[in-house]
Amino acid sequence: MDVIKVEGGHPITGEVTVEGAKNSALKLMAATLMAKGVSTLTNVPDIADVHVMGKVLKNLGATIEVVNEHELKIDTTNVDSWETPYDLVVQMRASTAVLGPLLSRFGKAVVAMPGGCNIGARKIDMHILGLEALGVEFKIDHGNIHASAPHGIHGATVTLAFASVGATENLMMASVFAKGSTTIDNAAREPEIVDLANLLNEMGADIKGAGSPVIEINGVSELHPVTHAVVGDRIEAGTFLAIGALCGEPVKVKGFDPRHLGLVLKKYEQMGIRVERGSRECTCWREGPILPADIQTLPFPGFPTDMQAQTMCLLSLCQGSCVITENVFENRFMLASELNRMGADITIEGHHAIVHGVPAFSGAQVKSPDLRGGAALVMAGLVADGETVVSAIHHIDRGYEGFVPKLVSLGAKAERDTLPDLDHEI
Ligand code: EPZ
Repeated sequence: MDVIKVEGGHPITGEVTVEGAKNSALKLMAATLMAKGVSTLTNVPDIADVHVMGKVLKNLGATIEVVNEHELKIDTTNVDSWETPYDLVVQMRASTAVLGPLLSRFGKAVVAMPGGCNIGARKIDMHILGLEALGVEFKIDHGNIHASAPHGIHGATVTLAFASVGATENLMMASVFAKGSTTIDNAAREPEIVDLANLLNEMGADIKGAGSPVIEINGVSELHPVTHAVVGDRIEAGTFLAIGALCGEPVKVKGFDPRHLGLVLKKYEQMGIRVERGSRECTCWREGPILPADIQTLPFPGFPTDMQAQTMCLLSLCQGSCVITENVFENRFMLASELNRMGADITIEGHHAIVHGVPAFSGAQVKSPDLRGGAALVMAGLVADGETVVSAIHHIDRGYEGFVPKLVSLGAKAERDTLPDLDHEI
């Protein structure tokens, strides 16, 4: 059983440079299916999910040259399949991001129904409803989604019931070659959506309004391969800034745009955290107690759900009480019970977490509930009394490249270790 061991109480300060955004890179890789030839992606994070998306593309017939751990040359010339099997989708639900590109390239796609995950049902009904408006027909059988556009894909106006990131991305990619123009209303506005639209436009697409609630896509006939750098990972950046806020000494994070963490940094300032913004970097530290602040997660530019766990860790030590409301996923409070094992005082009431600040965490054996919760537990270990052992760290490896080495470079006493799997011994 792989674990991360952290010894609390060591000064944490210095600077880290974040990688390219996981939640953009995966979609940019899928989008290369729409331009026959060799596209080069740089600033790609070297994380497990990128490796899985690589397998998905190879399974479709693409070849990938790993120039180095952060640069991929993806050749989609010989892509001749439109089927993505269950064993790959079950590893990573973001594989559904190939739905739009495959429909654009082949007019059909077969993608295994993504299962839920531990943060929620992760349905794709909005993807399906929106694509149906574009002329796509769906049949679901034996756990597979069979999508086809027998009469071609035509432009339409689609209003999303919720500003879904994945639905916005699939609709945008499925509309690139549509006959006529498509309008996506109530579109997601995340920086990763803008990065994808930028890549597609560099390839020759005609997309306007990405980053606003209304995106317009005018159909073009074909796309050409390009070279594109993945946008910096605002959530990895936010994770390390939260570490500076928690431990108190300055942590400078480089390689991302602080405007992509606008509300997070404003909230952190309300919590008594010092924030110094640059154009491509930001520093956080603390000179006094963590003050309570109520948090509501919402689609961008609202407070990002992917920063909820890290902020729950911070607020667990606040001087007072506050409420965290999770409006995006239905089950993203599993971190609370693990933090309570470390001495936190958090009560869950539906989609609210009531947090009563405590003076300190005590080190304990804890288990990562998901990607961001795992990072938050390691964070807590940095200031806990004694040693914290975090298990199920495969969750962390999905989205954080070199998490432990980066922490050690900031002064942490942390290491990966492998413990015997107790259940094998009994
Ligand atoms: C993306 O997931 C990110 N993942 C998530 O990051 C992120 O939390 C989320 O956007 C919100 O910002 C990737 O980009 C790979 P949604 P996605 O569609 O696209 C429901 C992380 O930690 N919904 O905006 O799946 C859905 O169940 C991960 O990096 C439907 O009901 O998010 C969820 O409750 C976690 N029907 C909510 O909407 C649909 O058709 C938001 O989902 C689509 C979504």
